[in-house]
Amino acid sequence: MSKQAAAGAPGVQRKIYSAYDEPGSGEEISRRQFMANATLAVGGIVGLGLAIPIIGSLIPKGGSGSGNWAPLNPDEVKQLEDATTKPIKLTFALKSKDSYLPEQSTEEYVWGIKVDPNKFKTDRPDLFKGGANTLPYDVINMSFVIFSPICPHLGCRPVWNGDASRFQCPCHGSQFSFEGEHLAGPAPRGMDPLPFKEQSGVADVMWIRYQSGVPDRVVISYQS
Ligand code: FES
Repeated sequence: MSKQAAAGAPGVQRKIYSAYDEPGSGEEISRRQFMANATLAVGGIVGLGLAIPIIGSLIPKGGSGSGNWAPLNPDEVKQLEDATTKPIKLTFALKSKDSYLPEQSTEEYVWGIKVDPNKFKTDRPDLFKGGANTLPYDVINMSFVIFSPICPHLGCRPVWNGDASRFQCPCHGSQFSFEGEHLAGPAPRGMDPLPFKEQSGVADVMWIRYQSGVPDRVVISYQS
């Protein structure tokens, strides 16, 4: 073949065809359509498979969910048993597990008070049957009540002031009685009681985060 023939006749533009330019037969078109649909379907399934655990990890467990029990430091529980008018800080290992990360353990604490059950029920009727803030678990167990250390206003940590006989929040000045009742400041409710149990000499607490800034106790998360 001459060089001219290979390049084509002068003045004639050559067109380079690709496979997509070929219209193809009806059977071929439907095969392409099938392949395109199948690719989209597989992509959608893979995307959904990735999205579900990611979204699931962002949604806190709440409502009807429940958490695990964590053992409290036994020496501090002993102090609580001997306590009278002073709240005791009780530490425990708070375990958390994110979908894609190994389990983490951090030290957390709660406040424990020793109470006369009858007096406590009289002082805090809001926490018991028929009260405004009834909880789905026993607030008093073995004459002890456990409170979350998280301020129900905006999440700071009230400290116990022995001279004033009350918990005081350093952030905006909310104050709570020994029994966790709201006394002053912007907090919309009293301190949050947490589930507590003692079995075979081991005292356990269940860590629950309640929503800040609202009068009702709305569960944000449980210890998982
Ligand atoms: S966070 Fe405690 S008073 Fe505001």
